[in-house]
Amino acid sequence: RTIAVLNGPNLNLLGTRQPEIYGSETLADIEAMCRKRLEGTEFSLTFEQHNGEGELVAAAQGARRAAAVLINAAGYTHTSVALLDALLMAEGPVIEVHLSNPHARESFRHRSVIASACKGSIAGFGGLSYSLALDAALALVDGPTI
Ligand code: DQA
Repeated sequence: RTIAVLNGPNLNLLGTRQPEIYGSETLADIEAMCRKRLEGTEFSLTFEQHNGEGELVAAAQGARRAAAVLINAAGYTHTSVALLDALLMAEGPVIEVHLSNPHARESFRHRSVIASACKGSIAGFGGLSYSLALDAALALVDGPTI
């Protein structure tokens, strides 16, 4: 079984992109942490990043049979009905992830268009948000959590 982690636009530049907001960890660091977290479990990881909305929609479609989906949709969180529609097809739980806390930022970040496709959201903990979301995913799919 697979846990899919999907990342949206500009997250490829994590580490250099507004480090005061998003921290100094790179997306490769976060991917390595996720792989380590799933070691010794029955789950394999897919980890993708896409800048284009269509590519992220295609990735969400491709992940629809995954045991769980973690998604940091970045800017598309606040705009993309197409991404919402793709995530509504997911068979397993979808968990919304953010490095920063969008509710502590500009008001246009307060609304998540994809929230209604998600079991819940983990935001504001930097790279740790992904780790906490993986813990939640493992608990939700009732797999071994070591
Ligand atoms: C983000 C928050 C979004 O508002 C923003 O557009 C991003 C990153 C986060 O992880 O904190 O690109 O999803």
